[in-house]
Amino acid sequence: MQAQLLGYDNHPVDPLYGSLEIKRSALMTQQFNITLLPGDGIGPEIMAVTVEVLKAVGSQFDLQFQFQSALIGGSAIDETGTPLPEETLSVCRQSDAVLLAAIGGYQWDSLPRHQRPETGLLGLRAGLQLFANLRPATILPQLVEASSLKREVVEGVDIMVVRELTGGIYFGQPRGVFETEAGELRGVNTMAYRASEIDRIGRVAFETARKRQGRLCSVDKANVLEVSQLWRDRIAALASNYADVELSHLYVDNAAMQLVRQPKQFDTIVTGNLFGDILSDAAAMLTGSIGMLPSASLGESGPGVFEPVHGSAPDIAGQDKANPLAQVLSAAMMLRYGLNQPPAADKIEQAVLKVLDQGYRTGDIYSEGTTAVGCQAMGEALLNALT
Ligand code: IPM
Ligand code: MG
Repeated sequence: MQAQLLGYDNHPVDPLYGSLEIKRSALMTQQFNITLLPGDGIGPEIMAVTVEVLKAVGSQFDLQFQFQSALIGGSAIDETGTPLPEETLSVCRQSDAVLLAAIGGYQWDSLPRHQRPETGLLGLRAGLQLFANLRPATILPQLVEASSLKREVVEGVDIMVVRELTGGIYFGQPRGVFETEAGELRGVNTMAYRASEIDRIGRVAFETARKRQGRLCSVDKANVLEVSQLWRDRIAALASNYADVELSHLYVDNAAMQLVRQPKQFDTIVTGNLFGDILSDAAAMLTGSIGMLPSASLGESGPGVFEPVHGSAPDIAGQDKANPLAQVLSAAMMLRYGLNQPPAADKIEQAVLKVLDQGYRTGDIYSEGTTAVGCQAMGEALLNALT
């Protein structure tokens, strides 16, 4: 079953898959093939917790998940010599959705670029044509104190960063390190966007903003870069189709400043690959811990990839210290955006709020007066909260 063929009665139509919505029979148990990519570092621990949560919620909502694990990143390099084995890509392509944990670790950092874990992740995004990356940064009332910024600055922050994910300087040609005629080394990358690439991410962003507070801020560097001028012109041209969305533009340096100065001015942000990489980390940290934030990477059709914004945290791997909540919330995004199961997604999100209300905290979000727990205990608390 492909993700874009599913629908759910009486729920908002998804920006990417909505036009193909087909009503399902409410009585049937639905089956989904989910590819799990636990990856490296804390990946396997947080994935294990998440799979249990999915099973529990599946049995409550008549959803049957067939899980299949595949290799990516450093663990794939160790076993097969490449960070994205062909088999992984084909298993992912055949599934309804892909749940990814995290990749990378010190031991693979000095390998040649084509063998680096990050290259596997970029290959997955490109291979599945996941051009739209949705990264919510929502501050939970329970965690206001965990933010490094003042309560009055962050309370109520609710931002969605829509990052272009398969273009820009991450993929532009030419790239490489070349020798000049004078015999000096010169590193080159190219920031390039085709109009059609800007338009398609722009449409996703306008649709996303429309379902939120209706405000879209496009971020670029049009005062210096031609590629950004094209970006700005195309996004501005799209605005006439979305009269209900209020569009603004910011240069990326100003956007970075505004994010920490007055984050509540933002609703939805749309930007290119590199600026989105940087700004989404900054937005994430407003919420206190990057360990809380999920993301969804979607294409025009086919399975999406759902993953936490945080990395593989090799320094705490295998010690039962990791925060599994971003991974669990990524599974909720998978249910919502990839499998069209909003009630099951709601249920997981409510369970996360409940364990936080109960005071459970992993080390990254711990504050005085709360109950410190490890990754597994957080998983058990979630299972209790679900039932
Ligand atoms: C992210 C990460 C990746 C990126 C790395 C691991 C390649 O930072 O998903 O934000 O730069 O896109
Ligand atoms: Mg990043």
